[in-house]
Amino acid sequence: MAGENPSIRINGTAVDPPDDPRTSLLDLLRERLGLHGTKKGCDQGACGACTVLVDGARVVSCLLLAAQCAGREVVTVEGLAQGDEPHPLQRAFVEHDGLQCGYCTPGQICSAVGMAAEVRRGVPSSVTRDLSADRVDLTHDELRERMSGNLCRCGAHNGIVAAVAATYAGGRA
Ligand code: FES
Repeated sequence: MAGENPSIRINGTAVDPPDDPRTSLLDLLRERLGLHGTKKGCDQGACGACTVLVDGARVVSCLLLAAQCAGREVVTVEGLAQGDEPHPLQRAFVEHDGLQCGYCTPGQICSAVGMAAEVRRGVPSSVTRDLSADRVDLTHDELRERMSGNLCRCGAHNGIVAAVAATYAGGRA
């Protein structure tokens, strides 16, 4: 089943790549592994509901073939908690009402984790004023721009921004 491809590490567990090379990472997660935290919204890269982390970078898993993840580390929302201890962002989403129906929430949370890593590395966004600065401050505008690929059809964006800001703004990224 694994063929010549190395396994994919998903939330710390080695998984064989799918036999069908056309399988998206999203379909591998949901349909073969039963990791239903990662959601299928548009299935075309437009909504962000399927966002997961691959080698620490956020990706929309509907547009990535699972076979491309061979030898890489995938983390889904199920892999963020430390045992029984939720990730700080998960707590913040509850505290700041960063959700209504919850469908987009796993993607929002994985995206925010990856976004914070981008800010730590000094990766600019389209609203970053000083592109030569070593440090990017996670201002309100930066945060909203960087999270703009994750849609919330309930309109809980104010709570989402508040939760992400409470976790990462002010140098805590
Ligand atoms: Fe992947 Fe919408 S389901 S971006």
